Amino acid sequence: MLKLRLTEKLQTMPTVAAEADKPALQTRMDKPIIRLKEVKRVYKVGVERIRALDGIDLDIRRNEYVAVMGASGSGKSTLMNILGCLDQCTSGIYELNGHNTTRLSSGSLAHVRNTQIGFVFQSFELLPRLNALKNVELPLIYAGGATWLARRTRAREKLVRVGLSERIKHRPNQLSGGEKQRVAIARALSNNPSILLADEPTGNLDTKTSEGVMKLFDQLHQEGQTIIIVTHEEHVARHAERILQMRDGQIISDEKTGSDRMSPPSQEADDE
Ligand SMILES: Nc1ncnc2c1ncn2[C@@H]1O[C@H](COP(=O)(O)OP(=O)(O)OP(=O)(O)O)[C@@H](O)[C@H]1O
Ligand SMILES: [Mg+2]
Repeated sequence: MLKLRLTEKLQTMPTVAAEADKPALQTRMDKPIIRLKEVKRVYKVGVERIRALDGIDLDIRRNEYVAVMGASGSGKSTLMNILGCLDQCTSGIYELNGHNTTRLSSGSLAHVRNTQIGFVFQSFELLPRLNALKNVELPLIYAGGATWLARRTRAREKLVRVGLSERIKHRPNQLSGGEKQRVAIARALSNNPSILLADEPTGNLDTKTSEGVMKLFDQLHQEGQTIIIVTHEEHVARHAERILQMRDGQIISDEKTGSDRMSPPSQEADDE
C-alpha cells in the first residue's frame, strides 16, 4: 500500500508542468468529482488489523464545500489521505473526476495528485529556510517544465490571492500562525487543483485567526473551488454546506448545513 512521507507529499504537490494533462481528466462534468464505493482501509500492525475505513460510500459534487467531523481515531485523516491520493484503499473504488484511481500504479497516482489535488495540513509544513514566495513556488520547481518567470508569477499571484502581498519575502519564522497557513493555502492552490483538501487547517490557530482562514476558504468556495475540510470544531464545520460525521471508519451522518446559499451558481447543480 502506498503511504508517503512528508517530503514526498511536498514533492508531489500540484504542479504547473502537469497541467497540460488536466483537461482530459476534467471532461467528465456529468459525474460527481469524487465517488467512493465500499472503500475500506485496513492497517496491519503486527497481528492486529485496524479497520481505519470500514465501507465508505460517498459522492461529492464539483464546487461542493464539505466538512468531515468525528472523534479522534474515527478515520478522518485516513479518508483525506485516500481522497488526496497520498494513500490507496485496501478494497473498494475511488473515482476522481470520473476516473477510477484504485488500480493506478504509484507513478500514475502521483500524476493524478500532481494535477488534481491541493493539500493543506494542520502544521503548515512550510520549509523554514525558504521565504513565502519560494515555498509556494516549490511544487512548481519539483515538477519542472515551467519557466522561472511563469513559476514566480504564479506563486506571487497565489500569495496575493490569500492576502499576503506584503509578506512575500518573509520566511516562516517571520510569519504569524495565520500567515503561515495562508502561505500553505497559496502553495496548495499553486496548480489550480480540482479539489482542495484541508486536514484540521485551523487546529494550530486561535479562534480569531482561524475565522480569518475560514473566510478565505469561504471565498475560494464562492469562486468555485471544491473544498473538503476536516475539523473537530463545530463553528469551523458550519462554514461548509455539508457535514459528514465519522465513527469507527464509517460515515454515520451526512447533513446539509444551510450554508449552500454561499455556493456559486453551478452549471451542473442537477447533475445527479
Ligand atoms: N499508519 C497507520 N498504521 C496503523 N494504524 C493507523 C495508521 N494511521 C492511522 N491508523 C489508525 O487508524 C485509525 C484512524 O486514524 P486516523 O488518523 O484516520 O484518525 P483521525 O479521525 O484522523 O483522528 P484524529 O482526529 O486524532 O486526527 C486509528 O485507529 C489509527 O490509530
Ligand atoms: Mg487526523
